[in-house]
Amino acid sequence: MIYSEKVMEHFANPRNVGEIENADGVGEVGNAKCGDIMKMYLKIDDGIITDVKFKTFGCGAAVATSSMATELIKGKPIEDALKLTNKAVVEALDGLPTVKLHCSVLAEQAIKAALADYYTRQGVDPEPYVGKLSDEEPSCGI
Ligand code: FES
Repeated sequence: MIYSEKVMEHFANPRNVGEIENADGVGEVGNAKCGDIMKMYLKIDDGIITDVKFKTFGCGAAVATSSMATELIKGKPIEDALKLTNKAVVEALDGLPTVKLHCSVLAEQAIKAALADYYTRQGVDPEPYVGKLSDEEPSCGI
């Protein structure tokens, strides 16, 4: 399996690993197939994501995609984070082997879950913004 240099680099030095105390939104998603779990913490001020951290028990591809995803949304408005797709994350990493593509879905879903949690804490129904969070577990492709 060939990984791009960017994937290897983010896997070796993942950005924004950890947790945020007093986070404004926390999202956790899991994958029933491989048992991988992803937890995402967001700090949000005035609609801007000022800090983001993640923790995962996922594979290398999950670590690399989460690292890149957090870099892409840090300092950005919530609206930008809502638009982030796993495809954009994979492109920013110069691609992923096809069988690992679905690992990148964990990051996207964890960000959405954390934003949904943020809206809920504000007393706002998250569905119009975040959409329906699918009950379907993301598939790892393994
Ligand atoms: Fe489960 Fe990649 S996230 S194998």
